[in-house]
Amino acid sequence: MDKFVVHQSRLSGQVKISGSKNTALPVMAATLLTDQICVISNVPDLKDIKTMIGILEGLGKKIKFSKNILTIKSKKNKNFIAPYKLVRTMRASFCCLGPLLAKLKKAKVALPGGCIIGPRPVDLHIKGLRNLGANIIIENGYCQAKTKKLKGAHIYLGGAFGSSVLATANVLMAAALAEGESIIEHAACEPEIECLALFLKKMGAKIEGEGTPILKVIGVKKLSGCEFKIIADRIEAGTFIAASLATKSPIIIKGANPSHLTSVIEVAKKIGASIKIGKDSTIFVKPAKRLKPVNITTLPYPGFPTDLQAQFMACLCLAKGISLITEKIYPDRFMHVAELNRMGASIQRNGPYAIIEGKEKLYGAEIMASDLRASAALVIASLAAKGKSQILRVYHIDRGYEKIRGKFGKLGAKIKREKQ
Ligand code: EPU
Repeated sequence: MDKFVVHQSRLSGQVKISGSKNTALPVMAATLLTDQICVISNVPDLKDIKTMIGILEGLGKKIKFSKNILTIKSKKNKNFIAPYKLVRTMRASFCCLGPLLAKLKKAKVALPGGCIIGPRPVDLHIKGLRNLGANIIIENGYCQAKTKKLKGAHIYLGGAFGSSVLATANVLMAAALAEGESIIEHAACEPEIECLALFLKKMGAKIEGEGTPILKVIGVKKLSGCEFKIIADRIEAGTFIAASLATKSPIIIKGANPSHLTSVIEVAKKIGASIKIGKDSTIFVKPAKRLKPVNITTLPYPGFPTDLQAQFMACLCLAKGISLITEKIYPDRFMHVAELNRMGASIQRNGPYAIIEGKEKLYGAEIMASDLRASAALVIASLAAKGKSQILRVYHIDRGYEKIRGKFGKLGAKIKREKQ
C-alpha cells in the first residue's frame, strides 16, 4: 500500500481535466448491447476503468486500451455472469445488468452490497427492469434476471433520496432494446446520463428528453457500434476549484464544461472566489484572501453534487465563520470529518448535517483516506495545512483521479508517493 506525503503548497498555473469516470463506466457497459466495434475516446486511465475492462472481458469482449482510447470488440463466446469478486470492488459493475438482459435475455450479476459512504440499495434498478418484463430473483448474493422479451413500459424511478444515476442508466440501456415505447419518469438528469443517452443514440437508439427527468425511449431491434468521446469530469474540475480556494492560489482549469458546474461555481463564488469563464471554456479561479462560510446542501443534478461535498468541506474548515453542510444523497458520507478534525478543523457531525467552525489554520498530520472523494478532500486539506501530512491508503484516489499527483505537481504542489 502507498501513502502520499504532502507539504503545504501554493498552486499556480493550468490544469487539464480528464474524461469523466462516471460517464465512461456506464458507456462501457452499454457496449454489451452490440456485437459491433465501439471506439471510445477521452477515457481516463484509472483503476475503476481497468476493473470494468476485466468485467467486460469476462462477459465476452476483447478490449484494447491505449492513450485514453478504448476499442471494444465482441468475441464469439458470450457470458452472462458478472462475479462477486469483481463487482464487490466497484458498484458501477451492476450497470451491466440492464444491457446483458436486453441483449442475451439473461443476466447474473453479483449484488454489490454496502460501502463506506453508506447503504447503497439497488431496489430502483430491479423495479425498473421488472417493469420492462424481467423476471428477477435474488439468490446466493446474485441478482438473476431473465426474460422472453423486454417490453416498453411507463416506469417511475424516484426513490427516497430522489433519482438514481445508475438505476436510470440500467433501465435506459434495457429500454433501448425493448419492444415498443418506454417512459422513464424521475430519471436522473446528471450530465453522465445525458452523455450515456447520446452514446446510445449514436448506436442507433431512439431516445428523447436526455438531461431531463422524463426520458422517452422507442425500442429498436438492434444497436450498432460507433465512435464516441467521453465528456470532461465535472467532479475532477470541482476538486481543483476547491483546491484553489483552500490553498488561496489562483489557477486556470482547461478542458472542463462550465455549464456542468453551475451549482459548484455558485458556491465557490459565495465562499469568495472570483470565477471567470474565458475562451474555449477555460475557467479562471481567483480565491479571496479569507474564505467566507456558506451553507451547502447536496442534491441530484443540477444541485450541488455529493461527490464534491468532502472537498468543499476541506475549504470551509478555513472559512471565517460557521458553515453548514447537509448531505441529502448519502447521509452517512462523512468519514472525512474525523480526519479533518485531526488536522485541527472543528467539525461536528449530527446525522446528515455537518457544522463547520472555520479556523485560521489547519496543521499537517497522519491521516487515513476512506473513499475516493474523501481522499481528494484530504489532499486539499494537506496542501492548505501548515507543515507535513501523510495520507495513508491512497489506493482509493487511484480509482477515480487520473494522474492526480502529476497534475497537482505541475501546479506546484509538493506531493510524494511512498510505500506505506
Ligand atoms: N438509491 C436507492 N435505490 C437504488 C439506487 C439508489 O435508494 O436502487 C439511493 C442511494 O442510496 C442514494 C441515492 O439513491 O441515496 C442516489 O444514488 P445513485 O443511485 O444516484 O448513486 P449511484 O448511481 O450508485 C453514482 C456515482 C456516485 C455518485 C452518485 C450520486 C457512478 C459510478 N457512481 O452512484 O459516484 O456519488 O451517483 O451522484 O456513477 C464517486 O464517483 O465517488 C461516486 C460515489
